[in-house]
Amino acid sequence: MAGRLKDKVCVITGSGGSMGRAAARMFAAEGAIVVGCDIDEASANETERLVREAGGAIRTFHPGDLSRKEVAEALAEWTLAQHGRIDVLYNNGGGVVMEWLQKMTADQWSFTMRNELDLIFFATQAVWPAMVAQKSGSIINVGSVSGKIAYRVLPAVAHSAAKGGVIAMTKHLAMEGGPHGIRVNSISPGLVETNATRALLDIPEWAEAMHGKLMLGHVGQPEDVVYAALYLASDEARWVTGADFAIDGGTTAW
Ligand SMILES: NC(=O)c1ccc[n+]([C@@H]2O[C@H](COP(=O)([O-])OP(=O)(O)OC[C@H]3O[C@@H](n4cnc5c(N)ncnc54)[C@H](O)[C@@H]3O)[C@@H](O)[C@H]2O)c1
Repeated sequence: MAGRLKDKVCVITGSGGSMGRAAARMFAAEGAIVVGCDIDEASANETERLVREAGGAIRTFHPGDLSRKEVAEALAEWTLAQHGRIDVLYNNGGGVVMEWLQKMTADQWSFTMRNELDLIFFATQAVWPAMVAQKSGSIINVGSVSGKIAYRVLPAVAHSAAKGGVIAMTKHLAMEGGPHGIRVNSISPGLVETNATRALLDIPEWAEAMHGKLMLGHVGQPEDVVYAALYLASDEARWVTGADFAIDGGTTAW
C-alpha cells in the first residue's frame, strides 16, 4: 500500500544515521515530502542522494546541529518557507556518551542531555506554532528501552535519564497538543543494529548479554522501528497520542 504519507511534509532529524536514513527512504516511498537534517552533513547528503535516486522527494537542511535552539528554529522556518506546512516531526536524531556513574564527567553528562533531550525539546518547540495554526501534526519522539529498564552491560546513566525524559515529556506534550489536533507519541526501540551499535555487537560477551534480553532472540533492524513511525506519522494513527510504542523484540515484556 503506497501513498500512506502522500504529500505530508515530514521533518526527519538525524537523517544521515541508520534509522534516519531508513525513515527518509520509507517515508518518501509512501509519498512524503521529506526534510532531512543531521549534524553530519556528508551522511545527510548521502541519504538525500539515495532517496532522490529512488524517485523520492527530499531536501536537507544545513547546518544541522539541533542541540542549538537557533538551529532548530531555522530548520522550522526553512521548512515552512519551502513547503508552507509541517505535518510530521520525527525526532529521531541523537548523540550520547555511554559511561558508568563514577567515571562520567559533567561535560559528558551535559553532552548527552543536550543531544538526546534538549534537541527534541528545541525542535518540537520550533515546529509547534505551525502545527497549532494548521490544527494538526504528528510528533514522533525516539525514546529507548533504556528509558525504562537497566542493562547490566550498558553504562547508560545519562542515556537512561535522557530517554526516560523523552518518554515522560512525550506524554506531557500529548496533553498540550490534544486541543490543537497535535498528536505526540514515542517509540522506544530495543537493541537495533545501526551505526551506533555495530561495533559493540562485535564484542561476543556484550552481544550475548544483550541477546539474552530479546524474546525473539535477535536484534532489530532500522526498518523494524521505522514501520512503527510510519504508522504514527500516517492518518491511520489519528486517535493515537501520548503512547509509547515498545519496538524491542520483547525486551521490556520479560
Ligand atoms: N540503535 C539502537 O539500538 C537504539 C536503541 C534505542 C534507541 N535508539 C535511538 O534511535 C535513534 C537513532 O539512532 P541510530 O541507532 O540510528 O543511531 P545513528 O548514530 O546511526 O543515528 C543518529 C543520527 O543522529 C545524528 N545526530 C546526533 N546529534 C545530532 C544533533 N545534535 N543534531 C542533529 N543530528 C544529530 C547523528 O549524526 C546520526 O546521524 C536515536 O535517538 C537513538 O538514541 C537506538
